[in-house]
Amino acid sequence: MNVLGIESSCDETSVAVISDDKLTANLISSQDFHSKYGGVVPELSSRAHLQIVIPLLKDALAKSNLELKDIDIICATAGPGLIGALLVGLTFAKGLAYSLNKKFIAVNHIEGHIFSGFLMEEKPEFPFLALVVSGGHTLLLLVKDFMNIKKLGSTVDDAAGEAFDKVSKMLGLGYPGGPKIQQFALRGNEDKINFPVADLRNSFNFSFSGLKTSVLRYIQKNFSGEKIPENDLNDIAASFQKAVVKALIKNAEKALSEFEVKSICLVGGVAANKSLRNAVIILGERFNKKVVIPGMEFCGDNAAMIAFRGQKLFENGITSSLDASPFPGLSDDIFS
Ligand code: KG4
Ligand code: ZN
Repeated sequence: MNVLGIESSCDETSVAVISDDKLTANLISSQDFHSKYGGVVPELSSRAHLQIVIPLLKDALAKSNLELKDIDIICATAGPGLIGALLVGLTFAKGLAYSLNKKFIAVNHIEGHIFSGFLMEEKPEFPFLALVVSGGHTLLLLVKDFMNIKKLGSTVDDAAGEAFDKVSKMLGLGYPGGPKIQQFALRGNEDKINFPVADLRNSFNFSFSGLKTSVLRYIQKNFSGEKIPENDLNDIAASFQKAVVKALIKNAEKALSEFEVKSICLVGGVAANKSLRNAVIILGERFNKKVVIPGMEFCGDNAAMIAFRGQKLFENGITSSLDASPFPGLSDDIFS
């Protein structure tokens, strides 16, 4: 079976092909021009998706030695994401499915991330604990199988990636913030500043807005409008990163003590963070669990995870109608 995946939820356009369970193409075009605006400009994002999606499709097919007529199912991200951006990939996929008379499958972006560990050589084993950390979401999930996911906790305010982006902006390091903070943190002292880690008792929820405000207050108090010296930038980045990692690991640890799982998966854009990756590996060793963290090309937004998730939905008898609309939330039927 040949599966086509299309992702256009934010600032990455991606087209992937999975052919007989083997990933044969995962092309990703990142819209780097947003950095000069300090964040993603939705309308510019939509236009850029529109320009690149057809060339990417052609390249992905060529790389897979396939023609359009060989594709069996067409999967596209339906949300959550920027509405205009989503509509480009979704409408394009629907048009293809209609004209080629193929099955169409609308895929939830977060579900794509959740199962992205399966794109690795070493696969997760069910049930697994999923720590989903992206720009828009922070979730702790108990994944029982492909169609059965229990939500343990989520952020009550900012997502972890969002906190990275906002703190990066406060420090004048630019967008996207995660890689910048990581880079400066490498040279900093993570024990220099004791930023707070929220403790939402009796829950697996997260909160990052207090931490973000605390960084802002620290900057205002110590540097009121002046340029922050490089050493201090490094220390703030490192101390902030440490607090985020601590908050994420604390809840994952609590879940591991309470629920029996076989593996731990760290997924989403923030899973690219080296400090977080190391902390999850150490956590896995402590609890004697298999740890699966996708490689870099599968952490950030990519169509391989959309094609994979779409194929699993199809195998479970789920297809979508051509009037499926972009949806903002998680598909409630599989999340309990
Ligand atoms: O999953 P993703 O590509 O898009 C969403 O679905 O939101 O995640 C993007 C987020 C951004 O907030 C970005 O700053 C963060 O992932 N990110 C990182 C790193 N690389 C990307 N955060 C921390 N450390 C990184 N190395
Ligand atoms: Zn994402």
